[in-house]
Amino acid sequence: MVEQTVQIVSNQRDTDLYFRLVVRAPQIAPLVQPGQFVHLRILPLKHALLRRPFSIFQVSGDTLSILYKSVGQGTEVLSQMPPGDELSMIGPLGHGFTVPAAGGETPLLVAGGYGMAALYLLAQRSPQKGIVFVGGRRRVDILCEEEFRALGWEVRATTEDGSHGEKGLVTHALQTELGRRAPGRKLFACGPTPMLKAVGQLAAEFNLPAELSLDEHMACGIGVCLTCVVPIQTGDGWEYQRTCTEGPVFDSRQVAWEEAK
Ligand SMILES: Cc1cc2nc3c(=O)[nH]c(=O)nc-3n(C[C@H](O)[C@H](O)[C@H](O)COP(=O)(O)OP(=O)(O)OC[C@H]3O[C@@H](n4cnc5c(N)ncnc54)[C@H](O)[C@@H]3O)c2cc1C
Ligand code: FES
Repeated sequence: MVEQTVQIVSNQRDTDLYFRLVVRAPQIAPLVQPGQFVHLRILPLKHALLRRPFSIFQVSGDTLSILYKSVGQGTEVLSQMPPGDELSMIGPLGHGFTVPAAGGETPLLVAGGYGMAALYLLAQRSPQKGIVFVGGRRRVDILCEEEFRALGWEVRATTEDGSHGEKGLVTHALQTELGRRAPGRKLFACGPTPMLKAVGQLAAEFNLPAELSLDEHMACGIGVCLTCVVPIQTGDGWEYQRTCTEGPVFDSRQVAWEEAK
């Protein structure tokens, strides 16, 4: 884990409220594993000391990028920062995904909205190709479809309003696919909590391994404040673990949703 001041290389709108930010981060970029995140202090945000967590989307040489949605004060200010401006970054943070082994289980990736960002490096570094299920409310919520195809993955898009791909929830498309064939597959998911719960239920129903990247509010991002704890099964019981250090990726069989706050 490194803290460094990074310089913005580009910061451009992708679709609607989604933006891509590329920064030069020579101390952090080479260390990144799929599913890890960075914690950003948005320096022009004068009265907000808290950093914001973002999955590391892509890495190239000494640069890394994030794919973010403008949802509030911090991301709104971030979306207006031009190339050359500086940010304070801590990273890479957290425990990421297990990269599938060559000849092992076929990976099925499941993403909701900006959850795509956490899964791209996994797809890129996996020697085993599979299917990416990407879902969102509308066409504009479907991100980087072509980039996953360019990596050699099959992409299945779903939108709730039917404006792109199949109409419905991404987990329905996953369920249909697992109904056709489930053995020998492993699920990897990142997205909103209801989607993650549904993926976890499907994994249990079809007796498949699954890794889920949880989206919990974070304050310190480095294991100190306990804002981000989630109940995780250990042996006969459960204990709170920190999403920022033990996670954000957990084995779906261990997440004790029924004990959640
Ligand atoms: C491990 C991790 C990885 C993440 N990766 C990405 C990513 O790749 N791209 C991306 O766009 N966002 C990502 N997020 C969410 C991102 O951190 C929040 O959207 C951001 O902190 C909001 O900051 P803000 O100041 O704009 O919003 P605020 O003004 O702080 O809040 C605006 C709204 O966003 C909600 N919000 C704040 N934090 C979260 C959160 N963690 N999850 C869901 N809703 C939240 C608030 O409840 C509020 O409704 C990630 C979160 C975590 C924990
Ligand atoms: S955010 Fe502080 S312990 Fe996880």
